[in-house]
Amino acid sequence: MPNIVIVGIQWGDEGKGKIVDLLAERADIIVRFQGGNNAGHTLVVDGKKIVLHLIPSGILHPGKLCIIGNGVVVDPEVLVEEIESLRGQGFFPDDAMLRVSSEAHLIMPYHKQLDQAREAAATVGKIGTTGRGIGPAYEDKASRVGIRMNDLTNTGLLKERIELALAEKNFLLTRYFNQSPADPGQVFDHLAALSEKIVRYIADTPALLSYRIARGASVMFEGAQGTLLDIDHGTFPYVTSSHTVAGCAATGAGIGPTAIDAVYGISKAYTTRVGEGPFPTEFFDETGKCLQEKGTEFGATTGRKRRCGWFDAVAAQRSVRVNSLTGVIITKLDVLSGLPTLRICTGYEIDGTLIDQFPSDIPTLERAVPRYIDLPGFTDDIRNARDYSDLPENARSYIEKLEELLAVPVTMISVGAERTQTIIRRHPLPA
Ligand code: IMP
Repeated sequence: MPNIVIVGIQWGDEGKGKIVDLLAERADIIVRFQGGNNAGHTLVVDGKKIVLHLIPSGILHPGKLCIIGNGVVVDPEVLVEEIESLRGQGFFPDDAMLRVSSEAHLIMPYHKQLDQAREAAATVGKIGTTGRGIGPAYEDKASRVGIRMNDLTNTGLLKERIELALAEKNFLLTRYFNQSPADPGQVFDHLAALSEKIVRYIADTPALLSYRIARGASVMFEGAQGTLLDIDHGTFPYVTSSHTVAGCAATGAGIGPTAIDAVYGISKAYTTRVGEGPFPTEFFDETGKCLQEKGTEFGATTGRKRRCGWFDAVAAQRSVRVNSLTGVIITKLDVLSGLPTLRICTGYEIDGTLIDQFPSDIPTLERAVPRYIDLPGFTDDIRNARDYSDLPENARSYIEKLEELLAVPVTMISVGAERTQTIIRRHPLPA
């Protein structure tokens, strides 16, 4: 059975949650492999709105196994809240549906404190993080003072690890940020209370995955954020702290790259971005406000307004390349209905020269003036379209132009938030 990776190919918020939820019906296992609760997936199931930040949306499907991989940073408080909220809404009937890697790192209260203190103190170099402690948690992982899920099962070691981590952190918090220090005893007690509700889910998930794959299970690796927020391949430094590209599915889940059969990139029919950083096709006019309202472009995690702009094929081509995409899934096509003209950016003019490659340095990208092609818009309400042929001709021309520019097929098109509001041209997983 095929194993597929789903990644966002813009700056996150591409609507991955809905697509992953839909595809989960045909997968046996759904794995998160990077990021943390900086992500937010809003799903609408039978008119019920469900927001998930950490647990893969496959949890809404009975009988599926959901894995939080070693590459994820887990806020234990959020994990427990999410489990309890799902249970309260009648989902997640069985503990066996969820496993968390013993090697996943924890987001500690002092990580959140540091993240927020840094952002508040920044006069220049503000990233506009979600304030969830993601960066500091990955920093601790890289500097090898992080706390892992494994540590929750060994109280003596956990105490030692917290003290070790806090030695430097408290210096930074008190002397650099003028904040109160974190008390190791309190941090330990807080964690110990939460760990009672978490340890039952901890497992050697790479071994579990390899066992199940060898026996024919079909796995979907669910990326969070988007390619342009990747720490190497994104618009550094205005990025997140993990690798958001498809290659990370292997390292972040603990499988080898040859276990992956196909990679699908999700993109909105236009572009959005939250937080700071360059955005060449950004709207500064009424069109932006109109898409923001019509597309309800407000962050699921922080509630911040998303900046909106035209589809950027230059940026998307880079994402197609760094992810080796098999196909693209376009979301929110319905939001474009009513615009007289649809623009697609096909090149940038930088210092008088026309280029068709996405620059990797920020000062150059900041000077990029987008060059567009214009296509005629469509006015029909397409939210009830279920087959490609149901779309008006101009909507189809727009999709076909994207296929031509990206040189990969558009395999699915989403025309609304509900599972049913989807045109499936080629399903990535067999029935
Ligand atoms: P962090 O991941 O909280 O450190 O934030 C770093 C940057 O990534 C900020 O610009 C955030 O707005 C952005 N970001 C993080 N997670 C998401 C997401 O799920 N969707 C969109 N942007 C995100």
